Amino acid sequence: MTETSNTVAFTPERLAQVKEIIERYPAGKQKSALLPVLHVAQEQWGWVSSEVMDYVAGLLDILPVEVYEVATFYTMFHLDPVGKHVIEYCRTGPCCLMGGEDVYGHLKQKLGIEAGQTTTDGNFTLKEVECLAACGWGPVFQIREKYYMNLTNEKVDEIIEELSK
Ligand code: FES
Repeated sequence: MTETSNTVAFTPERLAQVKEIIERYPAGKQKSALLPVLHVAQEQWGWVSSEVMDYVAGLLDILPVEVYEVATFYTMFHLDPVGKHVIEYCRTGPCCLMGGEDVYGHLKQKLGIEAGQTTTDGNFTLKEVECLAACGWGPVFQIREKYYMNLTNEKVDEIIEELSK
């Protein structure tokens, strides 16, 4: 494990957590720790900048591009600063068939933003994602670990108003 970056660094507690994660894997296979370490990074900084990805690469003794290709593949990693609540809205077929597109339009109108944008108050960021594996309860969106299902325009209003308090 090489700590090379001068600009970003895990807190001592998170660095200990990262070391524990790396030790779960055999010597020379530390790249396997990449996903959980990226989650720890996102917990600390809220998003993963290129500086953070370079730092993670140094910790795992892998190339920065190996971190970039993973972080840019999974939509759960935020590559730009995000708001307090990140709404990950399912845009896949089954949710669309359940009225997801109408509800999505209403949500965008209510927030006043498009996908990839953050509200001016910093409260909400909107992301489009593929199937969240809750197709039977569509339309669906996710905020962190919580799913909001069987969405309607009225439910969206209630959720946004509650989270805006
Ligand atoms: Fe939306 Fe599967 S299509 S959760």
